Amino acid sequence: MAVGTVLVTGGTGYIGSHTSLALLENGYDVVIVDSLYNSSVVAIDRIELLCGKRPAFHQVDITDEAGLDAVFKEHPAIDSVIHFAALKAVGESGEIPLEYYRVNVGGTIALLSSMTKHNVTNIVFSSSATVYGDATRFPNMIPIPEHCPIGPTNSYGRTKSTNELIITDHVEAQRNNLRKAGKPFEQWNGALLRYFNPCGAHPSGIMGEDPHGVPYNLLPLLGKVATGEREKILVFGDDYDSKDGTAIRDYIHVMDLARGHLAALNHLRSTHPGVQAINLGSGRGSTVFDIINAFSKAAGRELAYEVVPRRQGDVLDLTANPALANEVLGWKTELTLEQACEDLWRWVQNNPKGYRQEPPAELLDAVKAKAKAA
Ligand code: NAD
Ligand code: WQD
Repeated sequence: MAVGTVLVTGGTGYIGSHTSLALLENGYDVVIVDSLYNSSVVAIDRIELLCGKRPAFHQVDITDEAGLDAVFKEHPAIDSVIHFAALKAVGESGEIPLEYYRVNVGGTIALLSSMTKHNVTNIVFSSSATVYGDATRFPNMIPIPEHCPIGPTNSYGRTKSTNELIITDHVEAQRNNLRKAGKPFEQWNGALLRYFNPCGAHPSGIMGEDPHGVPYNLLPLLGKVATGEREKILVFGDDYDSKDGTAIRDYIHVMDLARGHLAALNHLRSTHPGVQAINLGSGRGSTVFDIINAFSKAAGRELAYEVVPRRQGDVLDLTANPALANEVLGWKTELTLEQACEDLWRWVQNNPKGYRQEPPAELLDAVKAKAKAA
């Protein structure tokens, strides 16, 4: 008997696939909806290879409310949603903001509306540390606590902060309306998870990030330098007020992040807290040069870089204060930056074409041997 059944939107994507695996490994049944806009259906096969259980999959667009209705109807056991499906390229969001609002905000409204019709009442939402904008504009806000004022500096970030408000308003309204009607209301809950910088891959080397198009994040780009697909990494500014002049981020292993979703879901289902915003980060800041050094070590050679001017919209420091997650979720990061770099390198080195190729036989054999032993 499953602990519960979870709808995972965007479940074939980078964070969604690792989280779906963590849910299945911890006794949940998983139903994935994804349009495959930025992902591959092969991720489902890899999840099954790793845990021996296959999530249900429906190719549905998150803005298609009738499509979502049909999924909830087919899977009446669903009681919770983890909502990843979104567009996420910061630069692109400034070029086509309407499309970002249509998919990210319109999709969330369609989802909440469909959930309400089908009495599905817990939502864990993928928010982002980008909602804080430049936290150094206030005194004493690094590392960043959840009460730091919100102030995103790009359209992508504004879709996230808008969704946080929509989810908060809807869950609170459902609770109030049910309370006034004398009915149980505590089943309505939301976790707004503000992730810092996710990185790394599954340690097996058969599951990882495989975006369509050109990546823009630091670690996937460094992966391309390490495989020789790119000549060097451009370092966006060495004139920040940090130990080496480069900007500071809080990098979090995707396996830790996946566990954070599991902890948040369990928290909603067991303690009925209403809506809470929670940082998921390590509390440890690393500069761009720290990352280049760590990934060079994992790849076994010095990776070439060139310092260029700052990238527009970048901020000095996004480091989490993870105390709330530690306290209310009983969760903290366990894996190091070095492990994230090693796991990312194992994924990139063995799967240069991502999911468009079979992984090497020895990796698959190791996965099968581990499954047999378990
Ligand atoms: P991803 O692109 O790998 O995953 C997003 C998934 O959503 C993909 O599988 C994509 O196909 C799907 N999707 C996109 N548009 C859709 C639509 N219209 N209908 C249905 N599915 C659709 O990205 P990710 O890094 O795994 O991010 C997951 C979530 O976490 C996103 O909401 C993202 O904004 C958020 N987030 C990511 C980061 C990061 O750095 N990766 C940081 C903070 C927050
Ligand atoms: C990290 C650091 C760059 C590329 C973004 C989104 C955020 C979240 C995570 C979704 C910065 C530097 C980068 C390069 C570089 N995503 N850099 N050369 O900007 O912290 O966060 O992804 O929610 O919302 O804004 O991540 O990986 O792009 O950059 O020097 O080629 O690496 O300046 O200091 P960022 P990133």
